[in-house]
Amino acid sequence: MKNDVRPAENRRCFGFSRRHNFLFLVVLGVVLFVYCTNIRDTGPEWNPKEWMKNHSTKLLTVFGKQSNVSKNTGFTGFPDGNSAAELPETTSVATTQEPTTQQQRTVSSRVTKKTPETQTAQRIAAPYVSPGPYLVEYPYEYHFTINEELKCKQENPFVVLIVQVAPRNRAHRDIIRNSWGSEKLVNNQVVALFFLLGMQTGDDAEQVHRQLLQESREHHDLIQGDFVDCYKNLTIKTMVMLEWLNSYCSSAAYAMKIDSDMFLNVPNLVDLLLKAPRTNYMTGLVTQGGRVSRNPNSKWFLPIEVFSEDVYPPYALGLGYILSLDLTKKLVEASRHIKPLYIEDIYLGLCMRHLGIHLTDPSGYSFHFFPIQYSRCKYSKIIATTTLENMDRLWIWRDFKKPGRYC
Ligand SMILES: *[C@@H]1O[C@H](CO)[C@@H](O)[C@H](O)[C@H]1NC(C)=O
Repeated sequence: MKNDVRPAENRRCFGFSRRHNFLFLVVLGVVLFVYCTNIRDTGPEWNPKEWMKNHSTKLLTVFGKQSNVSKNTGFTGFPDGNSAAELPETTSVATTQEPTTQQQRTVSSRVTKKTPETQTAQRIAAPYVSPGPYLVEYPYEYHFTINEELKCKQENPFVVLIVQVAPRNRAHRDIIRNSWGSEKLVNNQVVALFFLLGMQTGDDAEQVHRQLLQESREHHDLIQGDFVDCYKNLTIKTMVMLEWLNSYCSSAAYAMKIDSDMFLNVPNLVDLLLKAPRTNYMTGLVTQGGRVSRNPNSKWFLPIEVFSEDVYPPYALGLGYILSLDLTKKLVEASRHIKPLYIEDIYLGLCMRHLGIHLTDPSGYSFHFFPIQYSRCKYSKIIATTTLENMDRLWIWRDFKKPGRYC
C-alpha cells in the first residue's frame, strides 16, 4: 500500500495524509455509533432482565427453535458487562427510594425498549436467572391465549368485574355465573364479568386447555394470559389484568378484582360507584400499618434483603378491590419503578404510594375478610364477603334474591 501512494494523496492536513484522515473519520464514526447505542442501553430505564427477555425471543427465532420462549435460553453476557450473578440486584428497583427524576422519566413501552435488530447479533447468550422466590417475572410481554377483545366495546360497561381463578376451577366459575355474576344490568348500569386465568401446568395441561376453549365458546367470559398460574404468580396475574383492562376495557368507569370464593352484592357495588370519584379512586378492605412478616414459615414471609421496610404502605386486601379505570394505566407505569414483589395486593399498595394516591374506605358499605354467616339482612349491607367451602352459594343467592324485606 505504502508504495502505491500517489503524490496527490501525500498532501498533508494536520500532519496526516488524506487517506489517514479518511480512515480516522471512519474509525471515529464507528466509535461514536457504538458509544451512542450503548448510552441508550444503559440509560435509567434500561433493565437487563427485560432486555434479555425481549431479546431471547429473537435469539430463539434466529436459532430456529420452535418451542415457546424458554427462559432457560437467554444470554451469557450483558451489554454493559454485568455478570449474570449481579442480575437480581440490577433488575430490582428499590421500593424505598422513589426516583427523584420521576417526572422526567417517561416510561417507555416494552416495545420501544427493544434495541434494533442489528444489535441482537452482537450479544452473547447467557443462562436465565430466576427472580428468586419473592419476586415475579414482571414486566414481561405476556400474551393472551384466550381473549374477549370486543366485549367491552360492544357492551360498554360501567363496571367490569374480573374474577381471578385457577384454570381448573370451573366449579367456582359456574357458581359465580349462576349467582351474583348473572347480574348484568343494575340500576341502569351495565356490569361485565370476566374470569382471568393463567396457564395450567402438569400432565393434563393440554386437556385443561381444550376444556377452557370449549368453556370460552360457551360463555365468552374467559381471559387467559400465557404465564404459569400459581399462587406465587398472583402479582403477574394482577398486572396482566391491569394491562388487559387498559387495552380492551378502558372506556369502563370502574373495575373490580374479586376472588372466586367471594359473595358480591352487585347492587351495593353499583350504588357505591355511582357516588364515587371517577379518577384516582381505589377502595376495598383497606389495611394500614400491616407489619412485614420476618418469620420464614409464614405464607407471606419477606426477607429484609428483598423488602427492608418494617411496615407495608396502606393497601386494599386482594380478596376484592375496586379501582377507577384511569388507574390501570398509572399502576402499570408505576410498576416499572417498583420491585415486583410476589404478594399482589401489597405490590399494588406500593405502586399506589409511588403514584402518591391515597386509598379510600368504601363509604357506608363493608368488605369482609372473615366469612359472614348468611342472613338476608347482613348480606344486604355489604359489598363483598369471603365464603366457606361448605356454604351453598347457589342456595344463598336464590334466597337472597327472593322478593321481600331484607331486615
Ligand atoms: C410464574 O410464571 C412465569 C412465567 O410463566 C414462570 O416462568 C414461573 O416459573 C412461574 N413461577 C412459578 C413459581 O411457577
